[in-house]
Amino acid sequence: AVTRKYHFDVQMTSVTKLCSTKSIVTVNGQYPGPTLFAREGDHVEVNVVNNSPYNMSIHWHGVRQLRSGWYDGPAYITQCPIQPGQSYVYRFQIAGQRGTLWWHAHVSWLRSTVHGPIVILPPAGVPYPFPTPDHELPVVFGEWWRNDTEAVIAQALFTGGGPNVSDAFTINGLPGPLYASCSGDDTFRLKVRPGKTYMLRLINAALNDELFFAVANHTLTVVDVDALYVKPFAVDSLLIAPGQTSNVLLTAKPTFPGAKYYMLARPYTTTRPGTFDNTTVAGVLEYDDPTTAGSKTTQLPIFAPTLPQINDTSAVSNYTAKLRSLASAAYPASVPQAVDREFFFTVGLGTHPCAAGVPVNGTTCQGPNGTARFAASINNVSFVLPTTALLQSHYTGMSGGVYASDFPFAPAHPFNYTGTPPNNTNVMNGTKALVLPFGAAVELVMQDTSIIGAESHPLHLHGFNFFVVGQGFGNYDPASDPASYNLVDPVERNTVGVPAGGWVAIRFRADNPGVWFMHCHLEVHMSWGLKMAWLVQDGSRPDQKLPPPPADLPKC
Ligand code: C2O
Repeated sequence: AVTRKYHFDVQMTSVTKLCSTKSIVTVNGQYPGPTLFAREGDHVEVNVVNNSPYNMSIHWHGVRQLRSGWYDGPAYITQCPIQPGQSYVYRFQIAGQRGTLWWHAHVSWLRSTVHGPIVILPPAGVPYPFPTPDHELPVVFGEWWRNDTEAVIAQALFTGGGPNVSDAFTINGLPGPLYASCSGDDTFRLKVRPGKTYMLRLINAALNDELFFAVANHTLTVVDVDALYVKPFAVDSLLIAPGQTSNVLLTAKPTFPGAKYYMLARPYTTTRPGTFDNTTVAGVLEYDDPTTAGSKTTQLPIFAPTLPQINDTSAVSNYTAKLRSLASAAYPASVPQAVDREFFFTVGLGTHPCAAGVPVNGTTCQGPNGTARFAASINNVSFVLPTTALLQSHYTGMSGGVYASDFPFAPAHPFNYTGTPPNNTNVMNGTKALVLPFGAAVELVMQDTSIIGAESHPLHLHGFNFFVVGQGFGNYDPASDPASYNLVDPVERNTVGVPAGGWVAIRFRADNPGVWFMHCHLEVHMSWGLKMAWLVQDGSRPDQKLPPPPADLPKC
């Protein structure tokens, strides 16, 4: 294992997309940002220098950060942001993970442009547990706004309404031929040769949309999700939620030289059907044409794939039900067979009342029915970020005034989560953590509340991978549902969709001391409060304790 060093210069960069130019925050002037490469077992050091006018922090999404929570990155959770002109060196090891992860800004909505791939190769000499692909490449899905995304979310929070939607989706930063183009060729193209296999390292870096993805006339063989191997299976299309990553194999087949096939990505959403008809991003799979390259006179047809309907929830559940851990001798699945702590969380949208005196339907109260502001919660607590970092408060034993350790284990007032919403949809504000003893085996059932529409919420847990042991539609039933849990080869990952109008059950072992964020990876829901923190205590052995903070840890 070696130490891989990177330099991230966070800066303002002028970029032209969709016929207009704007200044965005980038790393090293790149959008998407640079790729980090490491082998499993390597150490990584990234010196982040903030030359932008914004507060910055970088999260290494999915990296387990075993006893290195100071470098996890979410602003006000594990660190204060890196202020303009300041820097911070992130140091961590990639252990027990192989595949694709990604890094992104973890403050406000800056991750819209500040993100990039993390490619994790197996240790030297260790092969993939599937035929070695001929080529590999990251395929990053993004979302582009003509406006400044910081202004988009600031305006939504001010009015209490929903934010403006993006103007385009992108593949590796390119919006593709279905959007107006003024800057020459801004289509992602993958040149392929018959018989060769390509491993696409898919990353959904979009802010607010889960995406269906397919390539015309080609199946995709899923071999890895969230940097863990799965039992390979082939699909015509797949679903990838913000935060999720997946390695898929595509084999180029015998076809005529110069043949072109579209790859398409488009949102999956149950709350805005119809809204997104024109927001499909296309890339092109192009077969090499060694004989006539450059001299083609006839236009060949381009083949387009069929994607599931925009609100096709059963396509989503059919796909996710196929995901299984490899669970082999070399890559065992260490699913906790018994649990020490069981929790039931409701996740979903809700409301805050409009402040007294604020005009209803006026400029500052445009939430549900014009009589409320949008909010979101877990067990009815809408999380409020503190003004100092939770991990520092925890480490120094100064939680008082920063957070409370009384996050509710279960909703105080259960209701029919998939039936008629309760009359009172208001949520309460709080900065609350849920305390876990070191080593506890945890089971967490998350139920979508459907209060303001049934909607899939991609929940991401920092600091851990978890096993997805069960999922279903309707209300979770503790008497009967656990009987169908898969405790043998459930998929292991860091971000899971709580099904629209349903529930998901996960298990993990709290073997990583520190403060760990958990939140919906739809950025707008996170802004509305769909987030919470776990506080995992130190164990008794020295190697079960969180080391002291580094000297250059940013201050608030
Ligand atoms: Cu990818 Cu807390 O985030």
